[in-house]
Amino acid sequence: MRIREHPILEFKRGKKVKFYFNGREIYGYENESIAAALVANEVYKFSTSLKYDRPRGFFCGIGKCASCRMRVNGIPNVRTCLEKVREGMNVEMQDKVADLPDADFIEKKIEHLDCDILVVGGGPAGLCAALESAKYGVKVILVDENYRLGGQLIKQTHKFFGSKDEMAGKRGIDIAKGLEDLIRKNKNIKVLLRSTVFGYYESKKNHLFGIAERLDDLSEKIYKVECKNAIIATGASENMLVFPNNDLPGVYGAGGVQTLVNVYGVKPGEKVLMVGSGNVGLIVSYQLLQAGVEVKGVVEALPKIGGYFVHAAKLRRFGVPIYVSHTLKEVHGKDKVEGATIVKLDKNWNEIPGTEKRVDCDVVCLAVGLSPSTRLVSQTGADISYIPEAGGFVALHNDYMETSKEGIFVAGDLSGIEEASIAMIEGKIAGLAAVERLGVKIDKSKMNNYQERLKELRAGPFGERGRKAKERIKEMWRSKYGGL
Ligand SMILES: Cc1cc2nc3c(=O)[nH]c(=O)nc-3n(C[C@H](O)[C@H](O)[C@H](O)COP(=O)(O)OP(=O)(O)OC[C@H]3O[C@@H](n4cnc5c(N)ncnc54)[C@H](O)[C@@H]3O)c2cc1C
Ligand code: FES
Repeated sequence: MRIREHPILEFKRGKKVKFYFNGREIYGYENESIAAALVANEVYKFSTSLKYDRPRGFFCGIGKCASCRMRVNGIPNVRTCLEKVREGMNVEMQDKVADLPDADFIEKKIEHLDCDILVVGGGPAGLCAALESAKYGVKVILVDENYRLGGQLIKQTHKFFGSKDEMAGKRGIDIAKGLEDLIRKNKNIKVLLRSTVFGYYESKKNHLFGIAERLDDLSEKIYKVECKNAIIATGASENMLVFPNNDLPGVYGAGGVQTLVNVYGVKPGEKVLMVGSGNVGLIVSYQLLQAGVEVKGVVEALPKIGGYFVHAAKLRRFGVPIYVSHTLKEVHGKDKVEGATIVKLDKNWNEIPGTEKRVDCDVVCLAVGLSPSTRLVSQTGADISYIPEAGGFVALHNDYMETSKEGIFVAGDLSGIEEASIAMIEGKIAGLAAVERLGVKIDKSKMNNYQERLKELRAGPFGERGRKAKERIKEMWRSKYGGL
């Protein structure tokens, strides 16, 4: 199931490693995640559900859904999409409730760190925030739970639209690499990878966060980090749809599929049905075709395609049918996806009986939107509201990305679902504003310039949703807290 030839990507898999799945000897490569190596070996069932004993598999590929948790080298609940496979590793399906780990594992080492600005999340928003702040000589700690920086950019092989200043015209993977290089060279930024920021605690003077770093033996080291300000840029998680068998292995999020294909060079299956024709659904479908995977069709509930025409046209050239005014009725299969049924919708979104169509596929890919990951920011006590145009619950914030909790800033998808260029500018604004909050004089013309660029990016028809979301957020902010 590994992709051997690709028109754009060359997969640097590294050394071949032997590991064990439920006692069976299999092979992976040192640069693969455990989950990717399992899928490459055609292992799709990672665990069973607590109540109904149903098979569970990979879904999001970015640490957000918990469906890939397994027992690794005796340690339970390891998110196998975030951990690399290693020689001799013992990976087991963990049935039902995980056994308690032994005492050695529970004993944690704790280190205290402090900084001026803590940045949580190493996606485009967090990377730009850290770089912008560090220019002023302040001490920055940047934390990400993945083992590499870049967030969702590391799997985006297409060239970006948007502003030149945010590197439009470059591929997402190259933007991520460029930003990472700048971060690595910057002496004011300390990077913690494989590190999850799990909690916020009140502290007398500053903000206090708890961080768990995964070590090579899979035990954890705990950091207590005290910071004067924090920028939270934890991104978003993929949405689910309700339909029979939506939990079967083989029903994957579009971002998860993109991670398998573009980061690890592993095919999720042979025949994919894509659900959702926004840019993500269209782009991932095209990337699957590039990887030699058959795309059986794209299903869209709306009467017209949601994404850019240019992306849809590429699929049409490959003869991929796009079924508008259709929905997924159900997925078939016992231990994994073996097919799906789609059905036509009338103008009131009701299924039209007799229009059901069976699609022969082994993967159903959901590209039905993202929800902001607000769990951490809500712990800080920042005011959170439901804004449908922003994708769900978001922290209310002012024009400088500061929330109602003084010194806590947000940026990127977490502050409202938009796209990577906007995430980068929001990161820069939050970075500058967090420095100013420390009492350091900032370049105001830069701030004005970033605000103008945001307006430009949101001006077109594809920026409309984000624009409306931010208008709602501003209105609510003004009515509760006054000026912006
Ligand atoms: C499949 C797909 C295709 C897309 N295509 C495009 C496109 O063509 N063009 C475009 O402009 N945009 C695209 N986007 C959107 C774009 O990727 C996002 O808007 C952008 O990545 C958001 O950046 P971010 O920094 O807010 O979040 P992310 O890139 O998601 O980064 C968030 C980071 O935070 C880390 N994190 C989360 N929680 C914690 C925690 N508690 N502790 C430590 N670390 C944590 C995560 O590991 C992650 O690295 C696409 C998105 C997807 C999913
Ligand atoms: S957390 Fe690993 S697949 Fe979602």
